[in-house]
Amino acid sequence: MSEIARPVIPWVGGKEKLAPYITQIFPPNMKQYLEPFGGSAAVLLSMPSCPGRLDIYNDLNAELSNLFLCVKERCNALLRELSFLPIHSREVFEFYKDFAAHREITLRNIQEELRILDDPACFTPEQAAELRPIFQERLELYDVQRAAAYVMRVRGSFNATTTSFAVKGLNLPRFLYLFKPASERLQDVAIENKDAIQIIRERDGVNRLTYCDPPYFGAERSYDLEIAAQYHTRLHRVLRKCRGPVAVSYNDHRFIRRLYDDFHILAFARDNPMAKRSGALYGELLMTNYDPTPFLADQLTLFGGQETEKLRLELVHIPKKSLITL
Ligand SMILES: C[S@@+](CC[C@H](N)C(=O)[O-])C[C@H]1O[C@@H](n2cnc3c(N)ncnc32)[C@H](O)[C@@H]1O
Repeated sequence: MSEIARPVIPWVGGKEKLAPYITQIFPPNMKQYLEPFGGSAAVLLSMPSCPGRLDIYNDLNAELSNLFLCVKERCNALLRELSFLPIHSREVFEFYKDFAAHREITLRNIQEELRILDDPACFTPEQAAELRPIFQERLELYDVQRAAAYVMRVRGSFNATTTSFAVKGLNLPRFLYLFKPASERLQDVAIENKDAIQIIRERDGVNRLTYCDPPYFGAERSYDLEIAAQYHTRLHRVLRKCRGPVAVSYNDHRFIRRLYDDFHILAFARDNPMAKRSGALYGELLMTNYDPTPFLADQLTLFGGQETEKLRLELVHIPKKSLITL
């Protein structure tokens, strides 16, 4: 069995620790899984791939999409760029050798496509001119140097904000070990760089599970992108119309509870990673357009009680009528 993949970078609002609690309420047997606000892909990476299910990672941040495309398809070149190569430890080298031997360099496919465009037996000059920018654009997304610089910026900044500088030692072998499982897991994942609302609309279907983790309400200043309350309202309007199951994470805020009145709402408190004082808690919401209770019941058995020391999921709101029935 392959290892469970983990994010290769820390991320503001990253859900690595919460992933098991979030995925427990995901309905099984979906044909598509969409994460429109992908971030470090912590939730997606924590889910094993499933034959017959298409997984889609999306984030509006082009640096992130570029990074994930590089981890997926140019992982060795990225590792070289990060100065992880050459490797001086035999053990790490063996690990790397095994990794390199199983890679498929799909970037070549795009370069080949570009060459085929010049073959007059295949395309007219007009057709080639129309197609070339599409392939060029894809090619630009595989910018290894840019991805490496971004990894170092995120890893070197305080709380992964990319804007502040924190002096940190980097444990290279440990870091290297994150790449193999992440790269393998991403082989089955489509990587997109669109506005979340656009991709949610484009790919709607009854067999699609959507998990949304938008920037938290009132905390947008910590992101590069400012998203106004209007955006959250538009997002909710689009999500409530989805035909497939939808789960949404947010910070526990009155505005959000009111906005998602037509969803089931689970609330819980977790450690606040941004807090200076230890033991500080942060209120989270996990909301669904379907009844999540059958899945929570499973979890109760699994952990012999849903209550752990700090994480207790409580159903705090039931809508008048479920938006969808599974
Ligand atoms: C809370 S983070 C997601 C964290 C992620 N679940 C993880 O575990 O790392 C929100 C993400 O949404 C992205 N984002 C912000 N506005 C967006 C938009 N309009 N469309 C798509 N992604 C957006 C940000 O770049 C950020 O990575």
